[in-house]
Amino acid sequence: MPQCLELLRTALGAAECAIWLHAPAGIRRTWGAGVEQVTGTEVEALLAANDPSSGVLVVARIVSADRRAGALAVRVSRTLEPDERVLVTAVGNLLAPEIAHAEKSRLLEVEVESRTTEIERERRFTEKIIDALPVGLYVIDREYRIQAWNRKRETGMQGVSREEAIGRTIFEILHRQPPEMLRREFDDVFTTGRIQEYQMESLATGELRTYRITKIPMRLGDSAVTHVITTGEDVTEWKEAQQRFAQAEKLAAIGQLAAGVMHEINNPLATIAACAESLGFKLDDVKKAGSAIPADAAEYLHIIDNEVGRCKQIVDGLLDFSRPKQAMKERVDLNEVVEKTLLLLKHHVRFKRLTVNSELDPTMARVPQANSEQLVQVFMALLLNAMDAIGDRGIITLRTRRGKSIDEGAVAEVTDQGHGIARSELSKIFEPFYTTKAPGRGTGLGLSICYGIIQDHSGRIEVDSVLGQGSTFRVILPTVEHQ
Ligand SMILES: Nc1ncnc2c1ncn2[C@@H]1O[C@H](COP(=O)(O)OP(=O)(O)OP(=O)(O)O)[C@@H](O)[C@H]1O
Ligand SMILES: [Mg+2]
Repeated sequence: MPQCLELLRTALGAAECAIWLHAPAGIRRTWGAGVEQVTGTEVEALLAANDPSSGVLVVARIVSADRRAGALAVRVSRTLEPDERVLVTAVGNLLAPEIAHAEKSRLLEVEVESRTTEIERERRFTEKIIDALPVGLYVIDREYRIQAWNRKRETGMQGVSREEAIGRTIFEILHRQPPEMLRREFDDVFTTGRIQEYQMESLATGELRTYRITKIPMRLGDSAVTHVITTGEDVTEWKEAQQRFAQAEKLAAIGQLAAGVMHEINNPLATIAACAESLGFKLDDVKKAGSAIPADAAEYLHIIDNEVGRCKQIVDGLLDFSRPKQAMKERVDLNEVVEKTLLLLKHHVRFKRLTVNSELDPTMARVPQANSEQLVQVFMALLLNAMDAIGDRGIITLRTRRGKSIDEGAVAEVTDQGHGIARSELSKIFEPFYTTKAPGRGTGLGLSICYGIIQDHSGRIEVDSVLGQGSTFRVILPTVEHQ
């Protein structure tokens, strides 16, 4: 095309020849030969004036199928002869089919370009949505090939990049899971067309976490399932909260029951104690009057007295669990409480043989509503348990630190390297009378009392334990006033 323009330019001695395409947004320069610039406005003006003879710029319409397809503009320094004008018009007409074709393909190009941009935009939008989800998500087709793989699945210790995953089979990517099991899970969804949901525990991040896996059928057409969407949501915190809630409910129920029973037992106990005491006085009187009394009568009374004392202790302990005494509360420094406990325990014979490390955070905020005596009682019980767990030698660490929010602002941990607690037993240790210690060594009330006291302080007590490795008991208290 530029070649024919060049010929026309030479034949007419024109400064410039240019072809203008009639585009929807106005006239648009497409090809030009020469150095001077014919402007769109000039061409528009001449086309509007419908006067090809005017001035030094000659404009011939290019018409294709009765439709103006464009214009041929020629800039000359003289008036053109009539046959030269005919030549310009003839060249214009010759160019018509080609211009029309060029226009069509250009429109097509624009259309394809805008469609492609639109599709790409939609694809990115969908990708952004699945990437923004706080769950791991992937989609496989009937050949078990991965068709989508979101950002969450790319991150983490076992993350796999999208480039690596897309197009491969799920068995190649999730190679840690038995392929038969994976296949069965997907086939279940393909054949039944129903959502499958289950929980799974994994150590992939280095710690035990629980995931809720959901497999959702997807149909591209109307009938058969063509793809399966799998989402994996980390529900560890949710599950722990559920368990805490269930445990709190259970302990509250036990507490209520215990409080009722203890109330009923307290009165007869007091009666027994009073009767034993009067009986003692009576025996003294009899003795003073010179009468003989059986030798073991005094011993029996002594036993009754001791046993009543023991029962009282248990009753008090249980009451501390179900309804701790309304003690005076004030601003308390948790570090001071820990230090006081250590001081009290320093003289314990077994304690002297152990290594107790304390790592106290000096920047700890105070707990505004606490009773330091009761908190000392809690740490004492935790340290005694730790001591029992490690046996004769070992390390116990007492640590305080700031919590993650003011509601859980002060944290104190007692960590031991003792025998640990089996997972199946963890939910029972706060129940009153749960003990694994030999008869006479433990009543199983220590942790229930701790639970009751910490509960009464609007805090919470947590435990992490690995059998054979040790345990950490964590007391979490608010650093903001409650109620
Ligand atoms: N640090 C620990 N390591 C291992 N097991 C523990 C630890 N702390 C508590 N336990 C387990 O929890 C049980 C209950 O503890 P809890 O303090 O309530 O009662 P106890 O120590 O058995 O008796 P008590 O405290 O009334 O003398 C213990 O018997 C023990 O099995
Ligand atoms: Mg104990």
